[in-house]
Amino acid sequence: MTIAIHVTDLTRRFGELVAVDRISFEIVQGEIFGLLGPNGAGKTTTLSMLSTMLEPTSGTAEIMGIDIKKDQDGVRKAIGIVFQDQSLDEELTAWENMDFHDRLYRLPKEIREQRIDELLKLVELSDRKNDIVKTFSGGMRRRLEIARGLLHHPQVLFLDEPTLGLDPQTRNHLWKYIEILAKEKNITIILTTHYMEEADRLCNRIAIIDHGKIIALDTPAQLKNSIGGDVVTIQSPDPEKIATTLVAPWISRIESHDKEVRITLVNAEQHISTIVTRLNEEKIPVTSISVYKPTLEDVFLSFTGKTIRERDADRKEGMRMHFRMMRH
Ligand SMILES: Nc1ncnc2c1ncn2[C@@H]1O[C@H](COP(=O)(O)OP(=O)(O)O)[C@@H](O)[C@H]1O
Ligand SMILES: [Mg+2]
Repeated sequence: MTIAIHVTDLTRRFGELVAVDRISFEIVQGEIFGLLGPNGAGKTTTLSMLSTMLEPTSGTAEIMGIDIKKDQDGVRKAIGIVFQDQSLDEELTAWENMDFHDRLYRLPKEIREQRIDELLKLVELSDRKNDIVKTFSGGMRRRLEIARGLLHHPQVLFLDEPTLGLDPQTRNHLWKYIEILAKEKNITIILTTHYMEEADRLCNRIAIIDHGKIIALDTPAQLKNSIGGDVVTIQSPDPEKIATTLVAPWISRIESHDKEVRITLVNAEQHISTIVTRLNEEKIPVTSISVYKPTLEDVFLSFTGKTIRERDADRKEGMRMHFRMMRH
């Protein structure tokens, strides 16, 4: 396995604020790696440092073996970037937007035209290539930006909040392209997001980031298992009996309340039939059974004591206070 990105103690301060606080991780080639966190967590600042647009205050990083401080041109050739804010020229056509960008890389005309056609095909925009971007939907614009980021055949792609503000269907559609890039083209991808489903569905591994620090880093499945696993809730008139009947090494916790039992266990779906069989054998009446699988939101909550949405709200409130103070 080739290490594509190696980050050691990367830190960025803005005055008193530590926006990125000694983060370290390694990403292997072809991996989709997610930085998941609320607004202001330090995701964009991290990508800006890795793409050499912002100097780290301290720490180091290598992209495909190239040091971000020592060889900025080298790093820039190895990476493609899709920014958080849209950066297309509205008045130009899809093809012109690609061509304009491509000239920056000084590729010969034939290669350039061939690549533009290839990439527009990949993101299914070939039949719209001569239309001006102004007429494009949000999803089409995003796809065009991704295609543009790939023109110089980078080995690493940075996607900053790639699906922000898109509707769920368009988001789904975009995920498909991101997966193709990693699987079929072996491109290493770092994406930032504050959508849990996006990180969960797309990323091989996720770093959960809050206040500039990585608070957890693992595969989505391991992150979710780390907080104790799934919860099976059984409603019954006799919850006590259920709690004493169900004894098994795969049960990590069992508690009975009023008229229900809550069982915490890993991989609940593999054990449901055993649970039901046991209850039938003991003739224990059951009103209902439900399975809850924890989400990354639960993981974030268990590590920080807040949901990502609450963190976003805290931040907005913090900014309002800040501006109010500045006005006085
Ligand atoms: N150029 C800057 N000057 C001062 N503070 C900044 C600057 N850029 C980002 N910040 C602050 O750094 C923190 C992290 O920001 P950012 O990396 O944009 O977060 P995210 O992308 O996770 O929403 C925020 O508190 C933000 O206000
Ligand atoms: Mg950001």
